[in-house]
Amino acid sequence: MSSKTSTVTVDGTSAELPVKEGTIGPSVIDISKLYSQTGMFTYDPGFTSTAATESKITYIDGDKGILLYRGYPIDQLAEHGDFLETCYLLLYGELPTAAQKADFDYRVTRHTMVHDQMNRFFTGFRRDAHPMAIMVACVGALSAFYHDSTDISDPHQRMIASMRMIAKMPTLAAMAYKYSIGQPFVYPQNDLDYTSNFLRMCFAVPAEEYKVNPVLSRALDRIFILHADHEQNASTSTVRLAGSSGANPFACIAAGIACLWGPAHGGANEAALKMLEEIGTPDRIPEYIAKAKDKNDPFRLMGFGHRVYKNYDPRARIMQKTTHEVLNELGIKDDPLLDVAVELEQIALKDEYFIEKKLYPNIDFYSGITLKAMGFPTSMFTVLFALARTVGWIAQWSEMIEDPSQRIGRPRQLYTGSPERDYVTLAQRG
Ligand code: CMC
Repeated sequence: MSSKTSTVTVDGTSAELPVKEGTIGPSVIDISKLYSQTGMFTYDPGFTSTAATESKITYIDGDKGILLYRGYPIDQLAEHGDFLETCYLLLYGELPTAAQKADFDYRVTRHTMVHDQMNRFFTGFRRDAHPMAIMVACVGALSAFYHDSTDISDPHQRMIASMRMIAKMPTLAAMAYKYSIGQPFVYPQNDLDYTSNFLRMCFAVPAEEYKVNPVLSRALDRIFILHADHEQNASTSTVRLAGSSGANPFACIAAGIACLWGPAHGGANEAALKMLEEIGTPDRIPEYIAKAKDKNDPFRLMGFGHRVYKNYDPRARIMQKTTHEVLNELGIKDDPLLDVAVELEQIALKDEYFIEKKLYPNIDFYSGITLKAMGFPTSMFTVLFALARTVGWIAQWSEMIEDPSQRIGRPRQLYTGSPERDYVTLAQRG
């Protein structure tokens, strides 16, 4: 730890607070003793200046547009690695050797099936249920099926729960999709790789042979890599907070899925595509740019802006390239949505409002176009995000559980309600 300190003086009382330094990125003032030394809390709604934890997993430099998983740049991982290798890296901290990779792939693959009674769970939902609602319920329900992996004090059980979730998310996600379109569930086929297996479970039907398109499988695998972790975002913080009470891992990941669903977070890919469809043609872009800039209009350009990135989201660049690859492979020469997206991006990047506020396209701006071209309906976009982010949530949750200084997360508040007052009986109230 650094020998630097920071002194805070409140009404003449001073507290000397330690400063902690990370390997890269801003240092932090450790305020854990601030209350005991000054009687004051800090106030930071939205956590804009607060590090909620120490972590070794993912690093973002928002000003430079850098994203590292365990030190490795996202573009290198997306270009050279595969999703399960990324999972291994996030979980264990190092890239696997060939033998470790083969063993890890094997272990994940052996857990792809879900308990057969899970099928009955699905029939309880309306066909038009949003698949994210189904995912929240089904992942939470895994804790009712796998009692042998809910003891969080046992490292072996934690590992089995992790493998189960990484392996079963594609199966559950594909089941949610199949249920919504009234087609039979397709069981996993374990001689396929993780992403090809998922594509097959989504798009195969029992009446026909299904051949996985390797270009689409590789593109989706890369999309999974891009979404695998993103340090202490809202859903990850939700998972950590839920886990801090000792809740079982399936329940914690279900909490993360619920948080991800919101349009300011993982729901933005669905919202971005709907927005592009609503705009429809490039000539209507100025109207929407004006709406986004209007203080009295709640409309925002979906897929634009980020709490941390004040530069181009590095994931968006890779996503844009992937979009072109996928459309090419599918022979889609002219996609009106892509035309709108490209033009919208160009106009926004030159507009004073977006320049001044440092609003750039984020990962969700192009992902919807890509996933739609692959055949996924918009309601599945956030489900795919949840599938890929599961490993990040698990890695962050494990890191927290293994930290001996871990305590229940319990934020404080600035109370602005009524001071203490006496109860007034109903008869006495005016
Ligand atoms: N369109 C128009 N104006 C915007 C936008 C946007 N997309 N994003 C931010 N602003 C403005 C906002 O109105 C505010 O202006 P002012 O200072 O005049 O009040 C300023 O920029 C700062 O915005 P903020 O809401 O204080 O910033 P934040 O860090 O709290 O929000 C955000 C970040 C991602 C929620 C926000 O940029 C947003 O709502 N974007 C659209 C939704 C979206 O694309 N979300 C996906 C995020 S990436 C995927 C993920 O990690 O989940």
